[in-house]
Amino acid sequence: MIAIRPERPDDYAAIRAVERDAFGRKDEADLVDKLRAAAAVTLSLVAEMDDHIVGHILFSPMTLNGKPAPVVALGPVAVTPVHQNTGIGGALIRAGLARCREMGNEICVLLGHPGYYPRFGFVAAAAHGLTNNLHVSGDPFMVVELVAGTLVRIHGEVAFHPAFDEV
Ligand SMILES: CC(C)(COP(=O)(O)OP(=O)(O)OC[C@H]1O[C@@H](n2cnc3c(N)ncnc32)[C@H](O)[C@@H]1OP(=O)(O)O)[C@@H](O)C(=O)NCCC(=O)NCCS
Repeated sequence: MIAIRPERPDDYAAIRAVERDAFGRKDEADLVDKLRAAAAVTLSLVAEMDDHIVGHILFSPMTLNGKPAPVVALGPVAVTPVHQNTGIGGALIRAGLARCREMGNEICVLLGHPGYYPRFGFVAAAAHGLTNNLHVSGDPFMVVELVAGTLVRIHGEVAFHPAFDEV
């Protein structure tokens, strides 16, 4: 039985472990800590199974053309290796997108694997006139509308928090 819920301070160490184990390095765990320290977290959810944290997802605010905007970045998302491919990542992504929409955000952007995210509605962002400050182009740069019809009026450069520069 999996429960998805917002992170609590006593989850921080377990979240670090999930991020580190999923990615096989500590960069993403460090990124999560830096975003928290910078108060640059829109939403941070954990997946809990039998009182253990087995998954984590974080959303952070983005700017659009240098200004605050109803745009969020998805990532990192991580599931403990032994529990991968059992639907936990998908559950975290769906719950996170729904909550970000409730919070008033209009689009969500990510840099990720183009084989995984289209199932959640993500499409190539460049095709919608978007660029990003990390200069990632092509298929990994993806976007999804949280509110239907908003992408047609959102164009230009979306910027990830500076903490992403160090990953
Ligand atoms: C990517 C990740 C979060 C997905 O979570 P999950 O719980 O394993 O995934 P789900 O069970 O919801 O979905 C399984 C699907 O994801 C695919 N998948 C898993 N990891 C993937 C990856 N790194 N790239 C592309 N696809 C991946 C599987 O092939 C499977 O596809 P299928 O349904 O077509 O067979 C998880 O595998 C993970 O932590 N991976 C390591 C860290 C990472 O790469 N994070 C994403 C980058 S920010």
